[in-house]
Amino acid sequence: MNQEIDRLIENNRTWAAEMERARPGFFAHLAQQQSPAYLWIGCADSRVPANEIVGLEPGELFVHRNIANLVYHADINLLSVLQFAVDVLKVRHVIVCGHYGCSGVRAALHDERLGVAEHWIRPVRDLCECHHEELAALPTETERVDRLCEINAIRQADNLCCSPIIRDAWNRGQPLAVHTWVYGLKDGLVRTLRPPRRGA
Ligand code: CO
Repeated sequence: MNQEIDRLIENNRTWAAEMERARPGFFAHLAQQQSPAYLWIGCADSRVPANEIVGLEPGELFVHRNIANLVYHADINLLSVLQFAVDVLKVRHVIVCGHYGCSGVRAALHDERLGVAEHWIRPVRDLCECHHEELAALPTETERVDRLCEINAIRQADNLCCSPIIRDAWNRGQPLAVHTWVYGLKDGLVRTLRPPRRGA
């Protein structure tokens, strides 16, 4: 048990030393301020590590993750992150990134018992019902899950675009693009699901 966690502390010491050796003053500089150009909204899944996927360093990506990358209009956590990112940090890009093989999406498709998370993913369940015909026409289970992952990412990005925080930013002419992506666990690649939205 202790070894499991000791390894992390050791990793941290090595990482910090390597960063500092490669770029002296890196942490001291970063401690002064952050000015990321991007906000990432993605799934909490451990296989979808935001910074690594897009090759960004500490200070470059503001991140919010939850199960199945949902954007709820009443989620005070997400709204706080979004408002801070848009109004204070003035990020220029918001990326909503779903991923294929998402367990939350799969659970919604199968109406699985999940405890509290079952309530959380209810909007994905609703999406299954809205897109029932399209999903049912797909030949395999994997394809149905993956298509629902895409549909979900698109819906969540739409929810984001409808939010007063984004609409107000666009109304005052703030440069801000909303991107809709899906990430492939099997190949490590991001796909763009549609062109970015840059205004209402
Ligand atoms: Co997921």
